Amino acid sequence: MATTKRLLRVLAGEASWPPPIWLMRQAGRFLPEYRAVRAKAGDFMSLVTNPEMAAEVTLQPVRRFGMDAAIIFSDILVLPWALGQGLKFEAGEGPVLPPIRDRAGIEALDPTQLAGRVAPIQESLRRVKCEVGDAALIGFAGAPFTVACYMVEGGGSKDFSATRAMAHGDPAMFGALLHIIEAATVEFLSAQIEAGAEVAMLFDSWAGILSPRLFQRHVTEPTGRIAAALRARHPEIPVIGFPRLAGTMIGDYARKAGVQAVAMDTAADPRVVRTLVPDHLALQGNLDPLAVVAGGQTMREETAGLLDAMRGRPFVFNLGHGIVPQTPPGHVAELVAQVRAA
Ligand code: CP3
Repeated sequence: MATTKRLLRVLAGEASWPPPIWLMRQAGRFLPEYRAVRAKAGDFMSLVTNPEMAAEVTLQPVRRFGMDAAIIFSDILVLPWALGQGLKFEAGEGPVLPPIRDRAGIEALDPTQLAGRVAPIQESLRRVKCEVGDAALIGFAGAPFTVACYMVEGGGSKDFSATRAMAHGDPAMFGALLHIIEAATVEFLSAQIEAGAEVAMLFDSWAGILSPRLFQRHVTEPTGRIAAALRARHPEIPVIGFPRLAGTMIGDYARKAGVQAVAMDTAADPRVVRTLVPDHLALQGNLDPLAVVAGGQTMREETAGLLDAMRGRPFVFNLGHGIVPQTPPGHVAELVAQVRAA
C-alpha cells in the first residue's frame, strides 16, 4: 500500500502499531471551539449545510489532537431529510421527524431530491480534503435498519417498539421502507466518495435490538448489498461497519457483510471478538466514553487492557460509542498520548 495514511493502511489489513486513533462524534459539543461555531450557525442543520462551517468543525479535533481521521460533519438523519421526510433538532430533545407508520408515508419519500440536498455535504468534503494532511477523511451514513428506526418512531426511543412491531407485523411494508433507504444510502455514500471521502462508515446503532433472524435480514444482508454496490463503483474504498450491541452475531456479520473493518461497542469483549472475526479484517473500538469523562487511572487501565487485547492484529483505537458532551478535552489529549506511546 503506497499511502502514508495510518488509518488506510490498517483498513487494508496491516497490523500497524501503535494503532491509528480517532473518536466517534469527535466533532461535537465537548469542544469549546465547536460550541462557538454551532452558536454562530443557529440550528444543527444550518451547520451541516454550511460547507465553510462544517469543514471547520470537522477539522477542529484533527488540529487539536492530531487524530488519524477526520469524520465529515453531518448526521445519519441527513438521509431522511434528503428524502423529504423533514427533520428538526429540538434543543435538549434530540431529533424530531414526522413518523412513518403506513404505505402513504413511504410513498411520500422522494429519492429524486437526494442529489441536490447532499450537495453542500459534498462541498464540505472537498474543503476538508484540501486541509486534512495525513488524516484519512471518513464519509458516513446510518445503516438502513437504524435509519428506519428514527423514520418510523419519528425520533429517538427507549426500545423502538413501533419499528420492531412493523418489522414483525408487516414485513412487506417494512421491507419496502428498508429498500428505499438502502438504495438511497448507496447514492449518499457514493456522492461522499466522489467528493473525496477515503473511507465509508455505516453506523447501525440499534442493530442489537433485533432477533437473530431479523438481524440477518435487516442488518447483515443490507450492509452486504451496500458494501458490494460501493465495491463495484469504488473498489479502493474500505467500509467500516458498526453493528452496535450485536453480541456474538458480530462474527457472522464480519464474515458476511463484506466490510473491511468492524467497530466494537463498549459491551464487546475484544478478546472474544478477536476469536470471532477473521484476522484480515480490522477491528475498531471500544473504550467506554465514560472512562474518558473520568480520566486518570481508570482511563489508563482500560486503554492499556484494550491495547494489549488488540496487539498484533489490524486495529483502530476508538470509543465504543460517541464521545459525550461533558468530556474534558484534556482527557482526550492524554488518551491520544497513551495510544501513541503503545
Ligand atoms: O464527529 C462526528 O462523529 C461528526 C458527525 C456525527 C454526528 N452524528 C453529529 C451530531 C456522526 C457520525 C453522527 C452519528 C449519529 N447521529 C448516530 C450514530 C452514532 C450513535 O451515536 O449511535 C445517531 C444515532 C445520530 C442521530 C442523532 N444526531 C441524535 C440521536 C442526535 C441528538 C442527540 C445528541 O447527541 O445530541 C443527533 C445530533 C447530533 N449529531 C449532534 C452532533 C454533533 C449534537 C447536536 C448539536 O450540536 O446540537
